[in-house]
Amino acid sequence: MTERVRVCIVGLGWTGSNHMAGYGAIPDRAEVVGAVVRSEAGKAKARSLGIPHLYDDWRAALDDPAVDAIDFCTPSFLHAEQSVAALEAGKHVLCETPACQSLEEARRIRWAITEHPRQIAQTGHIARCWPTFVHAKRLVDDGTLGGIFYVTSNYAHQSDPGEYPSALTWARDISHRARLGVGHHSLDLVRWYAGDVFEVQGNQTPKAGLAILHFHNGALGKLFSSSAVVRPYILSLSVYGDKGTVVCWWEENELRGHLHTSTHWEPQPLDRTLMHGRGSPEWQYEMTNFVDSIRGVAQPRCPMKDGVAMVETGISIQLAIDTGARVRVMS
Ligand SMILES: NC(=O)c1ccc[n+]([C@@H]2O[C@H](COP(=O)([O-])OP(=O)(O)OC[C@H]3O[C@@H](n4cnc5c(N)ncnc54)[C@H](OP(=O)(O)O)[C@@H]3O)[C@@H](O)[C@H]2O)c1
Repeated sequence: MTERVRVCIVGLGWTGSNHMAGYGAIPDRAEVVGAVVRSEAGKAKARSLGIPHLYDDWRAALDDPAVDAIDFCTPSFLHAEQSVAALEAGKHVLCETPACQSLEEARRIRWAITEHPRQIAQTGHIARCWPTFVHAKRLVDDGTLGGIFYVTSNYAHQSDPGEYPSALTWARDISHRARLGVGHHSLDLVRWYAGDVFEVQGNQTPKAGLAILHFHNGALGKLFSSSAVVRPYILSLSVYGDKGTVVCWWEENELRGHLHTSTHWEPQPLDRTLMHGRGSPEWQYEMTNFVDSIRGVAQPRCPMKDGVAMVETGISIQLAIDTGARVRVMS
């Protein structure tokens, strides 16, 4: 397929509105032909955005042959059921994070992905589309860093309920929020650079969560997450290899990164990423990758199998935190 991808967005809340803006920035590749909105306010918003077809129920969108791809921006406890049903209905799927909330749901999604290999199935780990982290990934993949032996990320975010309205609605229920022990974007990110994790350890206080990761390739990893940190949003990254090191940190509403290939102070700057959140071009990058994957001109940055593996690893970290034991990653 090289023509425009016809997308239906399910849920026009915080993420759905951002996804809509992302598709709106790439009219040559994508067209939002429909939205699933249940509330009157949601319908008014969809009409004001010029979305032509509105559905009351997400299942109705799955039956519509005029829709190529479904983009689920719904509460986390719906993700597994919705993604599996959309794949079974023959649609391409992008679903927000986390991909699912339990090992049983993870197994159901893995099965659906295997059964429908020609359809694109992606998870919305948007940090994989940030130019700084994409640049770092190229440096890992082309061997600039050599063998990776340590990778670490901090996810620290004291979010304002005005920023994420769901904190006052469905996400007030801790089981629906699914923090999975540590910041799940950080966990996905370190897996992107170092691969699958086989064993985890963890600890947590009300203000800080820590996990130590043992990767299959012999590397170690460390994650820190907190919603108590007093400073703006951080999703940082450091990747340490035999031949080089990448360090990425947030400053002045920008993610910046540097490559070091010697022990002298000669840092080489990586591509920069503008502020995370509403209005950031990151959504355009993510939507471009999704529709270009469907059009056959790109590879999915975060295949849903990786979204599922993040959940399996996160559940294992939570068990390690709860028991104080080293835990083999379950799937
Ligand atoms: N990737 C990221 O950086 C990122 C950031 C924030 C959140 N998220 C994830 O994105 C997801 C959505 O979070 P949000 O902050 O966008 O939540 P939100 O603002 O509450 O939006 C959720 C939307 O889902 C709709 N909805 C609820 N139940 C539904 C159902 N049964 N069928 C169809 N639509 C339904 C609601 O629409 P109605 O009003 O029509 O019911 C609402 O507009 C969550 O899983 C969250 O973890 C990801």
